[in-house]
Amino acid sequence: MKLLKDKIILEGVVVNSEILKVSSFLNHQLDVKLLDAIGDEFSKLFCKKNVTRILTIESSGIALACAVARKMNNVPVVFAKKNKSGNVPEDVYTTSIYSFTHNKSYDIIVSKNFLHKDDNVLIIDDFLAKGSALNGLIDIIKQSGANFVGAGIAIEKGFQDGGKKLREQGFQIESLVIIEKMDCCGNIFFKN
Ligand code: G4P
Repeated sequence: MKLLKDKIILEGVVVNSEILKVSSFLNHQLDVKLLDAIGDEFSKLFCKKNVTRILTIESSGIALACAVARKMNNVPVVFAKKNKSGNVPEDVYTTSIYSFTHNKSYDIIVSKNFLHKDDNVLIIDDFLAKGSALNGLIDIIKQSGANFVGAGIAIEKGFQDGGKKLREQGFQIESLVIIEKMDCCGNIFFKN
């Protein structure tokens, strides 16, 4: 997606060869016009899937998921919460995620009230790296008995293997931008 790629080139900050900072438009300040365009793009890519719910994970996925939902008949957006207390509440689906970026595990929870077995669920998220978050969300969908129709990702880091492994399993994973490489001079090389 040219608009997103241009924005990354203009405002993205390469922290190191693994981490790209996009705080000025996706992770802290939000560019709502860009979000709107991303919503258009994903709604086209998944228009034939009869999506009934969008699932994401707090916090940065929420704004993106809402932008997509608006273009898909205002389907409900559900976000997995990071469980900060040691207790797991009743009536939730839960799974553990290991973040390579933050080097720690955390549990996510989704209320059983908001995912049903007759749902067609689209996952939306900002980044795809090693796929831990995405695999966790897919596990939650499996627990609910709902149908996972695919995932829309704004920025995939193609040099990490999350996207490759998920596509090998036959899932439809659509990334608007795939970064092939980042170097220590701040250059970003795109795959698509
Ligand atoms: P993975 O799920 O694909 O394996 O990635 P990982 O666990 O390493 O990512 C954990 C968090 O870091 C996620 O957000 C993810 O969106 C974010 N992330 C991964 N790589 C990058 C990157 O290169 N740049 C930026 N800006 N974020 C990255 P989170 O910690 O859950 O935070 P948030 O959603 O509250 O922002």
